[in-house]
Amino acid sequence: MKTIAIHQFGSAQELQATEIEQAPLKANEVLVTNHAFSINPMDIAGRMGMLDKPFNELWSFPIVLGWDFAGTIAAVGDTVTNYQVGDKVFGNAPTVRPGNNGTYSEFVITTPDLIAPLPEGLSFDEAAALPIAGLTAYCAIVKNLAVQPKEKILVQGGAGGVGLIAVQIAKALGAYVATTASPANHTLLKKLGVDEVIDYNTVNAADVLANYDGVFDTAGDIATGLKVLKADGKLITVAAQPTPEQLQDQQKQVAFQFTDGTSADLSDLAQMVLEGKVKLQVTSLPVSVENVKKAHELVESRHVKGKIVIHIKD
Ligand SMILES: NC(=O)c1ccc[n+]([C@@H]2O[C@H](COP(=O)([O-])OP(=O)(O)OC[C@H]3O[C@@H](n4cnc5c(N)ncnc54)[C@H](OP(=O)(O)O)[C@@H]3O)[C@@H](O)[C@H]2O)c1
Repeated sequence: MKTIAIHQFGSAQELQATEIEQAPLKANEVLVTNHAFSINPMDIAGRMGMLDKPFNELWSFPIVLGWDFAGTIAAVGDTVTNYQVGDKVFGNAPTVRPGNNGTYSEFVITTPDLIAPLPEGLSFDEAAALPIAGLTAYCAIVKNLAVQPKEKILVQGGAGGVGLIAVQIAKALGAYVATTASPANHTLLKKLGVDEVIDYNTVNAADVLANYDGVFDTAGDIATGLKVLKADGKLITVAAQPTPEQLQDQQKQVAFQFTDGTSADLSDLAQMVLEGKVKLQVTSLPVSVENVKKAHELVESRHVKGKIVIHIKD
């Protein structure tokens, strides 16, 4: 099958068109014809060889990167009962699987617990933008911070793939939401209902915000987030490792989130998009090696607005 793969770790220039043999389908797996996939910072880390155990133990070159996708079921394993050939689905490829089964590929092999039905009204491109970024935002705001109406919530990095979804979920739950972003993204964030937008390039959020109930850090600045947090508040980060001192704070709770979303969470997210509670910002590029390289370089620049999706077919 056709893939875009790397044959050694390195820059985006390592991505190349590669034909690989499709792995045999196991009883608990589904084979999906891929219509669209999106690019995440994790893809960049994988390309550069920065993901260690278990990746470095199970991967072998050529490596097909990518985790997010949307497509149509092409075959189901013997024990799969909840999907049939022809069903439209979206979700993730397994985090790590021998056989380099990433989503920069004509076909994706995954398991039913990692996907959800594609609802009517959501395009393949929109759905492919949701899994990692959406589940990360959903798990942080809904499950780990358990945001309540009228709470004050700071999302650091509001213009990124995760941040843009997180600020909108927090607003949908009735919170007062502040975020950090570069000036080019302020109008968009205000339009999406964010109450306060701070240019982190010129202002430290801790100089203008205080006593927040919760902080979601997608930018890797736990120290600033902690200063904004109230004494018994909670900070969730997905972008930096808390220091032992930060973890030992007797009052303020700090936790790194390993995102662990479910099929039901994916369906909830899709519903929020359909109801207009979450408006996706998707840049869609037709599939080609050049466009995947371009997307990698953009994500690596750390200034992408929302998500970049690679469109394979309607
Ligand atoms: N643990 C997990 O489960 C998990 C899951 C997903 C992602 N992550 C991590 O979460 C982070 C965010 O992911 P993502 O997909 O949202 O990345 P992304 O889309 O590449 O984020 C780009 C955004 O980051 C913003 N940004 C960069 N530096 C910033 C700073 N110092 N303060 C505020 N905003 C800043 C940029 O905003 P401006 O252009 O406005 O400057 C840009 O909009 C990454 O580090 C990723 O590896 C972890």
